[in-house]
Amino acid sequence: MTPLPRHLLPLTAEVDAAGRLAVGGCDVVKLAAEYGTPLFVYDEAHLRSRCREAVEAFGAGATYAAKAFLCRAMAALAHEEGMAIDVASGGELHVALAAGVPGERLVLHGNNKSEDEVAQALAAGVGRIVVDSHDELDRIESLVAAGAAPPHVLVRVTPGVEAHTHVYVMTGQADSKFGFGLASGEAAAAVARMASSPAMELVGIHAHIGSNVFALSSFAQAVDVLADFVVPLGLPELSLGGGLGVAYVEGEPSPSIAEWAGVLTKACADAGITARLAVEPGRAIAAAAALTLYTVGTVKELPGIRTYVSVDGGMSDNPRPVLYGSGYEAFLPRATTAERPRPVRVVGKHCESGDVIVDDARVPADLAVGDILATPVTGAYGHSMASNYNRVPRPPVIFVAGGAARVVVRRETLDDLLRLDT
Ligand code: LLP
Repeated sequence: MTPLPRHLLPLTAEVDAAGRLAVGGCDVVKLAAEYGTPLFVYDEAHLRSRCREAVEAFGAGATYAAKAFLCRAMAALAHEEGMAIDVASGGELHVALAAGVPGERLVLHGNNKSEDEVAQALAAGVGRIVVDSHDELDRIESLVAAGAAPPHVLVRVTPGVEAHTHVYVMTGQADSKFGFGLASGEAAAAVARMASSPAMELVGIHAHIGSNVFALSSFAQAVDVLADFVVPLGLPELSLGGGLGVAYVEGEPSPSIAEWAGVLTKACADAGITARLAVEPGRAIAAAAALTLYTVGTVKELPGIRTYVSVDGGMSDNPRPVLYGSGYEAFLPRATTAERPRPVRVVGKHCESGDVIVDDARVPADLAVGDILATPVTGAYGHSMASNYNRVPRPPVIFVAGGAARVVVRRETLDDLLRLDT
C-alpha cells in the first residue's frame, strides 16, 4: 500500500532524500532519542497558522476550545495569536489564567458548573459565561446578590440538528444534556428570564452541534434552524460553537477554517442574522499540528491471523480509538515516504485487548523492534484525555520551531504517580 499522505503531516514537515522526517526543523527520530517515547511533538508554526486563520476569518469571535489540548504554553500561544479561549471547567479556567490570559478573554462553558466554578469565573472577570441550565442561573444570581459583578452571558441552545458524526460527540440534537431546547420552548423561557435578570447581561445565543463534523451543510442547517429564534431577539452575538472536522486518515476530507467561515457567514447573511459571529474550534486548531512518537517493543506474528505491533503507550495517551473507533495512520519517520505493504495492528501496552492504536495499520515491510513509529494528527483530544491507566506515566509535550525543541509539559515520573496518595 501507499506511503503516508503528506497532508496528514504538520505544516513545517520536511522529508529528506533518505525519507527522514523533520518537523519545525527538528529531526523527529532524534527528538525521540533525546526526549524518550511516547512523546507528543507539536509544530508551533502549524498551531499559530491555524489560530491566525481563525482570527482572520472570525476576528474577535475566534475562540480556541481548550478541551482539545491545553497547557500553559498552548493557552499563551492562542492568546498571543489573538484568540479568545473557551474553558469548560474550573480546571481549564485555572490553567488559562495561570498562563497569563486575561479573564476577559475567556468564555466559560459546562452543563454542570458548580457554585465554586461560577464563583471562580466571576472573580476572574471572565468575558462570557455560556449558561446551560436554570440551576446555573440560580447560582449566578445568588453570587451577584452576594457582591459579584454581573457577567455577560450567552444562552446555550440545542437547535435539534443531528450533525453527521459519532453519537458520543453529537450535541445539537433535542435529546441532549446540553443547553435549552429550541423546539420545546425552553430556550425562549431561558432568554426571558436572563433578559430580565439584573444579575447578568444577556449578549447572545450559543449553539454547538457536535464535533468532527465534515459536512459543512450541517452547520448551515443549524443556522437556518436558529434564525427564526435569533433574528427577532436582536442580540449582538451569536456563537456557533466548534466542531469542524479534520482528516485523520487517507481519503478523509478536511475543510479549511476559511471554508467553514465562508459557509457560516453566508448562512447567517442569507438568514438575516446580523449578530457578530463567534466560533470555538478546538480540533481544527490542534489536531494536525502534532504527532505521537512511540517505540516498537514487540512484534508478534500470529500465523493465519495477523501481526501485532506493540508500542510503549496506548489508550492512556490516545483513548480515541477505544472510545470512538477512530482511525489513525502509522508510519516510520526514518522512512516517511516508504511504501507500506505490511498489514499490522498497532496496539498499546495496557492490560486489555481493546487497547488499540491503529486497528488496520499499514507499515513498511522492514519494521522492527526498536523502530520509532509515529501516528500523525494526534494533537487534539489525545494529551487532553490522557490517563494514568495501569499507572503508566503520561508522556511529555514538546513544541518544535525553527530547529529548536522546548518541553512544555514534562514527562511524568514514577514518583508523580504517588504524589496524590496520602
Ligand atoms: N465548543 C463546545 C461548546 C464544545 O462542546 C466543543 C467540543 C467545542 C467547542 C470544540 O469542538 P471541536 O472544534 O474540537 O470539534 N473527545 C472527543 C471530542 C469531544 C468534543 C466536545 N466538545 C473526540 O476526541 O473526538
